[in-house]
Amino acid sequence: MKIRKVGVLGCGLMGSGIAEVAARAGYETVVREVSQEIVDKGLQKIQGSLGKAVEKGKLDAAERDAALGRLSGVVGLDALADCDVVIEAIVESLEEKRKTFSALDEVVKGEAIFASNTSSLTITQLAMFTRRPDQFFGMHFFNPVPVMKLVEVVRTLLTSEETFDTAFELARSFGKEPIACRDNSGFVVNRLLVPYLLDAVRALEEGVASAEDIDKGMQLGCGYPMGPFTLLDFVGLDTTYYIANIMFEEYREKRFAPPPLLKQMVQAGRLGRKSGRGFYEYGKK
Ligand code: CAA
Ligand code: NAD
Repeated sequence: MKIRKVGVLGCGLMGSGIAEVAARAGYETVVREVSQEIVDKGLQKIQGSLGKAVEKGKLDAAERDAALGRLSGVVGLDALADCDVVIEAIVESLEEKRKTFSALDEVVKGEAIFASNTSSLTITQLAMFTRRPDQFFGMHFFNPVPVMKLVEVVRTLLTSEETFDTAFELARSFGKEPIACRDNSGFVVNRLLVPYLLDAVRALEEGVASAEDIDKGMQLGCGYPMGPFTLLDFVGLDTTYYIANIMFEEYREKRFAPPPLLKQMVQAGRLGRKSGRGFYEYGKK
């Protein structure tokens, strides 16, 4: 199947990155958010990221302008009607994704394929919110999307071969390295990463060391680019909390259970970089 137009749902941390790589890869790209204000903020973020790539000499100004020319932001779903593929990257909530995919299914042309960037929900349950489960797959990107090379491409029992092959090629055309995954909550990376991040919070709760020293330990002791608390702030504590709840619900294993400190930080609005404060402070927001 030939992909010409890409739709992206959500222009937060992940949606903005996905829309950026799609537009840079030459696709006409339309990104949908819940309000014009958030659309504008998301598009500004993409402009800023492309601007930085130009400053660093990784992209020339003409390529930046062409990518921005292929990109538009909308609030209504109608502009996605003629998309060939729609990639969903909205909040990690089954109910929000259910509403979104049911509405999308009504509006978007029948041949189009749908993907979710969910971190922890199973693709099967999302696919069943539409009348095209054979044209539905998981496409899990990593944060920051323009930098991280991996995409997990997830097939369910119902995903057709043609859809899966198109998804794999699409990931490659975005400049990413795809791996094939079965539809398990957390796929490959989050199944291993999430218990590690949650365990870091438990170590902090138990007073093993300070957040700074735990981070330093994993950076200098294991060569990780970021320690777990820097990474938690980067991913978003709200998103991590939703993911932990979903994975705990799925597996009923303690290693996926959200620690009380994580829950309290989310309740207190300390969401990480996105809110200006998480385990660390990032200036006023
Ligand atoms: N957007 C675009 N580019 C970015 C960026 C962003 N948000 N943040 C950093 N970069 C770019 C920089 O511009 C720089 O590019 P150049 O090499 O071209 O100069 C490059 O990334 C390296 O950045 P820095 O030198 O500033 O900093 P760094 O060396 O510490 O790298 C990092 C930053 C790439 C984010 C690195 O710290 C890293 O790899 N961190 C771990 C990230 C990670 O684990 N991501 C997975 C999260 S889990 C997930 O995504 C799944 C889920 O479902 C929750
Ligand atoms: P985020 O909070 O930064 O952004 C979510 C965006 O979705 C918000 O801007 C919100 O306004 C928007 N939104 C909510 N409902 C919407 C709707 N009906 N239509 C369009 N937009 C809507 O969250 P994020 O970190 O970008 O996460 C998005 C998805 O990507 C989640 O499923 C998450 O699990 C997954 N994910 C996150 C990361 C990460 O590191 N944060 C990595 C991989 C995957």
